[in-house]
Amino acid sequence: MQANDPIGIFDSGVGGTSIWKEIHELLPNEKTIYLADSRNAPYGKRPVEEIIALSRKNTNKLIEMGCKMVVVACNTATTNAITELRKSYTIPFIGIEPAIKPAALKSRTKAIGILATKGTLSSALFSQTSELYAKNINIIEVEGNGLVELIESGRRDSPETYALLREILQPMLENKIDYLVLGCSHYPYLLPVLRDILPKDVQIIDSGEAVARQTKAILTEKELLNPSANNQQAEFFTNTDPKVLSSLIKAEENHYKVSYLDF
Ligand code: SIN
Repeated sequence: MQANDPIGIFDSGVGGTSIWKEIHELLPNEKTIYLADSRNAPYGKRPVEEIIALSRKNTNKLIEMGCKMVVVACNTATTNAITELRKSYTIPFIGIEPAIKPAALKSRTKAIGILATKGTLSSALFSQTSELYAKNINIIEVEGNGLVELIESGRRDSPETYALLREILQPMLENKIDYLVLGCSHYPYLLPVLRDILPKDVQIIDSGEAVARQTKAILTEKELLNPSANNQQAEFFTNTDPKVLSSLIKAEENHYKVSYLDF
């Protein structure tokens, strides 16, 4: 592992590019390699053993590509597999967890909503965090069934997405939440639709910035920050059609390389 090596990032699909954008912005000297495992999306419906196996497969590929660190840019993979990954590899891992803490601390209505996959909401790691803050707060957890599929297929602002979100958000609105925590790295791509549907005074929080800050802190601690200025490079690999991924990161206008890879 050397400072000049790339940071590896993986997700069950295209959603983790919301995390990649924050890392790319905060760390201008870093090279990044992003793996979108869209062929196996969504992870949220899979049994834990399968999520762990897929996370190992992605990690092995990123290590083979020479990465110095792995960012698990998927809440479902973080909450179900990161403990196992940390036990099996020496490379540092950064995970992504729903930002329950800031929402719970700031809420005035004492009701916050968490939108995440079944896999995240049923994980032990999520329950531990949620229990810590649930004492004085009504936490309304809702599964975002079907949302990842709509984003992966390029229909993030389609009529189906509006209809599904109106239904999914209903219990949160009935409970008068004032914070909505996005517990899946795909969901920041739903922000325009969420803003249209939710009352103006509901704040929406995601974990992207916090993950980027944590990535910087760990690279600094391990003396792995890339010292070479103007070194930034970004490469993207997907095991399905690259069209949706390319459009989300505006690959053409930014001259990012997006390739198909059978992994
Ligand atoms: C999924 O693959 O089900 C969603 C990814 C996530 O939880 O961030």
